[in-house]
Amino acid sequence: MSRMNKNIVCIGAGYIGGPTMAVVAKMNPDRKVVVVDINAERIKAWNSKGYDLPIYEPGLVDVVKEVRGRNLFFSTDIRKAVKECDIVFVGVNTPTKMFGRGAGRASDLQYWEATAREIKEWATGDKIVVEKSTLPVRTAAAMDAILNDHAKYGFTVLSNPEFLAEGTAIKDLLEPDRVLIGGPSTKAGAAAVAEIVSIYRGKGGRWVPAEKVLTTNVWSAELTKLAANAMLAQRVSSVNALAGLCEATGADIDEVARVIGADRRIGPKFLKAGPGFGGSCFKKDVLNLVYLCESFGLHTAAEYWSQVIKMNDHQQERIVSRLFKEMFNTLANKKIAVFGFAFKADTGDTRETPAGTVVRLLDEEHVRISITDPKAIPNAKKDLADLQGIEYQTDPYKAAKGADAVLLMTDWKDYPGLDWAKIFKSMRKPALVFDTRNCLDAAALRKLGFKVLNIGK
Ligand code: UDX
Ligand code: UDX
Repeated sequence: MSRMNKNIVCIGAGYIGGPTMAVVAKMNPDRKVVVVDINAERIKAWNSKGYDLPIYEPGLVDVVKEVRGRNLFFSTDIRKAVKECDIVFVGVNTPTKMFGRGAGRASDLQYWEATAREIKEWATGDKIVVEKSTLPVRTAAAMDAILNDHAKYGFTVLSNPEFLAEGTAIKDLLEPDRVLIGGPSTKAGAAAVAEIVSIYRGKGGRWVPAEKVLTTNVWSAELTKLAANAMLAQRVSSVNALAGLCEATGADIDEVARVIGADRRIGPKFLKAGPGFGGSCFKKDVLNLVYLCESFGLHTAAEYWSQVIKMNDHQQERIVSRLFKEMFNTLANKKIAVFGFAFKADTGDTRETPAGTVVRLLDEEHVRISITDPKAIPNAKKDLADLQGIEYQTDPYKAAKGADAVLLMTDWKDYPGLDWAKIFKSMRKPALVFDTRNCLDAAALRKLGFKVLNIGK
């Protein structure tokens, strides 16, 4: 392998590429980091004077302020960036394929492959190519084949899946539980892995402690990302499956989860019952795992993982059924105020949000819907552009005015502290609150006169 420089380019300036590279640049002031994207508008936003960044993450602006123009740059010129930088991270999107073979389950790899071909075309020396996008197992092998077939230069393909969660991305990046780097067991592979390890260790070893940087073979790394998300999604579906049983029997899911989680073998996290999981990764990754199992003839395993999704979809249907029942079996022309549209708090992201599914089910029942959210209104408008007559309000009080029910879908931390007496007064009676995140003080609401529904109690 020829002598390589330490510069980094990341292709894809999205939720993963943007924050990750900002922190990489912060912890590696001796490396130049360039983030490129085909979407010029996105790059413009990353470069905007007033730091009007294309994504919202607590703490992100501060990091970008520190490093942008110092050693972090945003650009649309992929050709120049690939020429200049010998370490290429790829964080382009890999949505679920909606056509042909594996439709609805497999990953659509066309962007990934097109990107690999571009890297090959613009390279003027050897490169380390790092997969950051979540990809099906063995994609690295395919990329290796594309890159190294009749190539002038040597390309070493590694897998470095990202485990950051939205809303805590910067914290997760600065203090990760672990960093995973998968590489081939060749001499070039070992050298490439060592180089990527040194990025995560940071300048002077000030970033991730050595024992938290785990290295594996490429396929283990690829599979681990899917498996980790599938296990987390499965915990949420398991607790939601128990929630229905709690409602039927008089048990309380929060109590049940607290006690289950006190067992150190299980642990307390990811046991919160709610409206089901959303976000760009869980559903896609579980579907991907299902597809992989099927393609290798592991039908029972495929069926097992599909149930995680089935349970999740069922949770949203159950929310609407309960509303229906509690609102005298007719929802037509009633007003429901949806509090929170983001798939979880502290993000404006609405991909696969359970609120989207619920709003569509309510719309079928001819409900008058008003949606409020502190961050996600612009995305909600895009997602629901095909629905007529939805009202969008940034002010929750306005959203609730004249409503028959408030349906809380996202646990924004401001919601428990709202003036619920004022909300009660402005609503039509009987006034219902369905708190699908169990984050409000139900006893206090009942005292005010609300009828209150929760998940799992
Ligand atoms: C995405 C996937 O959602 C995730 O599953 C995967 O693990 C990593 O990639 P994210 O960063 O959230 O994560 O996606 P997104 O915000 O859509 O960003 C991808 C970016 O890549 C977009 O800005 C898109 O314009 C860009 N892109 C896509 C390119 O620059 N070139 C392409 O050929 C395709
Ligand atoms: C997830 C993984 O956590 C992260 O490691 C991976 O890289 C990407 O996918 P993210 O999608 O940002 O991150 O959100 P996360 O915080 O994991 O929540 C996912 C969904 O599960 C949310 O809709 C959340 O509300 C829901 N959830 C989570 C529950 O309903 N109950 C819980 O106890 C935890």
